[in-house]
Amino acid sequence: MTQPILSLRGITKHFGGVKALTDVSLDLEPGKVVALVGDNGAGKSTLVKVMSGVHRPDSGTYQFEGREVAVSNPAEVADMGVQTVYQDLALCDNLDAVQNLFLGRELTGPWYTGYRVSRAAAERRAKEVLKRLRLDSISLTRNVGAMSGGQRQNIAIARSILWEPKVVLLDEPTAALSHSAAEQVGDLVRELASHGLAVLVISHDIHHFVLDNTDRIEVLRLGRNAASFNSRDVTGEQVVNAMVGGNEAVNMAG
Ligand SMILES: Nc1ncnc2c1ncn2[C@@H]1O[C@H](COP(=O)(O)OP(=O)(O)OP(=O)(O)O)[C@@H](O)[C@H]1O
Ligand SMILES: [Mg+2]
Repeated sequence: MTQPILSLRGITKHFGGVKALTDVSLDLEPGKVVALVGDNGAGKSTLVKVMSGVHRPDSGTYQFEGREVAVSNPAEVADMGVQTVYQDLALCDNLDAVQNLFLGRELTGPWYTGYRVSRAAAERRAKEVLKRLRLDSISLTRNVGAMSGGQRQNIAIARSILWEPKVVLLDEPTAALSHSAAEQVGDLVRELASHGLAVLVISHDIHHFVLDNTDRIEVLRLGRNAASFNSRDVTGEQVVNAMVGGNEAVNMAG
């Protein structure tokens, strides 16, 4: 079995009186796509925020590359090689793909240019990255505000890859997308794993996106680990039952 690159054990997190996570464990392995699923409020986003350094857990351990780390802020986690793409994407609609990809760390020219941003270099690098991710069809020069939801999502994911991370965390990348756009995101997610990245993706689209594009499914229910499945050995119905507590629901109905 592949060694996990990121490993959480016994994570608990309260918000005042709300227990968002209780004793949660999760492993992410290089080259694998793990789906994190669960009902609304199950704790999925909170767990991602613990992994990305936004929230500090009340208890539990965080291991990265086999070593326990004391994570204290998102910048540190990003530097370590864990990138997060949130649902709002944080793209600038009035800028094109190249400008968005390099937002906040523009490539600079040599000193005799006054360190001016080198558009040509940025375009070359953007082209190279988009090609590597099989996203060559995305225009480099159109404002991203005029692009489809799927293209915008893929640009946000491509941007996270420019930092050459080892782990990518995606919180509901397909929430606002059509079926075909979600399929494009699915292709990209598998492409990332094929390059050896560990990918975690939150999704409510169990029957299509999750079953088609992930290797393993981790189910959270009421802030706890409820089940773990190999994606190819499970039906959508079994996953949904684990999310809602199938048997209890049946008993209540009966
Ligand atoms: N910053 C916060 N302050 C207080 N409570 C919070 C905070 N963030 C999350 N919670 C609570 O923690 C619980 C888990 O929320 P979380 O956002 O992790 O769920 P989720 O599984 O991502 O749900 P969804 O599918 O709706 O996105 C919820 O009860 C939520 O209200
Ligand atoms: Mg959420």
